[in-house]
Amino acid sequence: MGGGGEGGGASSSAVEPAAAASPAPSGAADKPATSAPAPAKAPAAPAYIGPPPPPPRKERVPVWAMPVLAALPLWAILYGGAFGERSDEKASDPVSIGAGIYRSSGCSGCHGPSGGGGVGPAMADTVKTFPVFADHVAWIEAGSKPVQGQPYGATGKVATGGMPGFSDSLSKDEIVAVVCYERVTFGKEKPPPECSAASPDAEAAEASAPGE
Ligand code: HEC
Repeated sequence: MGGGGEGGGASSSAVEPAAAASPAPSGAADKPATSAPAPAKAPAAPAYIGPPPPPPRKERVPVWAMPVLAALPLWAILYGGAFGERSDEKASDPVSIGAGIYRSSGCSGCHGPSGGGGVGPAMADTVKTFPVFADHVAWIEAGSKPVQGQPYGATGKVATGGMPGFSDSLSKDEIVAVVCYERVTFGKEKPPPECSAASPDAEAAEASAPGE
């Protein structure tokens, strides 16, 4: 009997102290929020340095060549004309063309290089002998054989027949040119229309002259 109080003893259940709150995980809080350092700003990329830019292209055609090239077609025309069928008349004026013919066709051999005369008469009076241009041309074409022993021209001189005709060896244009040369250079005649009409320059000038 007795005792009673058994039991009821204080329960020894110790209250275990609450487990200490587990400490905050060390370190976690310590870690700076921005633990990862922001990546350093990347340095500006260096400007691209590649191979140096190519030097400016050379002009394909040098500037000085432009007028030369531009003149080529004109030159071709003149060159072609100079050696074409109606060659010499295209290249220059009849009087200077005639000067060449006068020398190359033998006129100078009989009439003198300066028209002073020789086997043939001097050229100074040629315009008096042939006041009409066409008669002068016909004379060169036929020569003096057909009128040998007869008076010829406007002054009535008698032909010896010593001058050959040139209708076979010279073209009509060439004869006109040499006639121009004789009349203008030796005969001191003002250039007649026949001598400018044969010039392409004069033709072109006439064609482009307004109001003509
Ligand atoms: C072989 C010499 C000879 C040659 C070459 C010759 N002539 Fe003559 N020419 C004469 C003779 C000579 C006369 C005078 C007519 C006669 O006696 O038959 C004459 C007369 C002329 C006359 C007339 C002159 C005048 O006032 O009486 C003209 C113009 C003339 N010749 C132009 C020419 C021309 C242009 C050429 C060349 C394309 C030429 N002659 C070549 C010998 C020549």
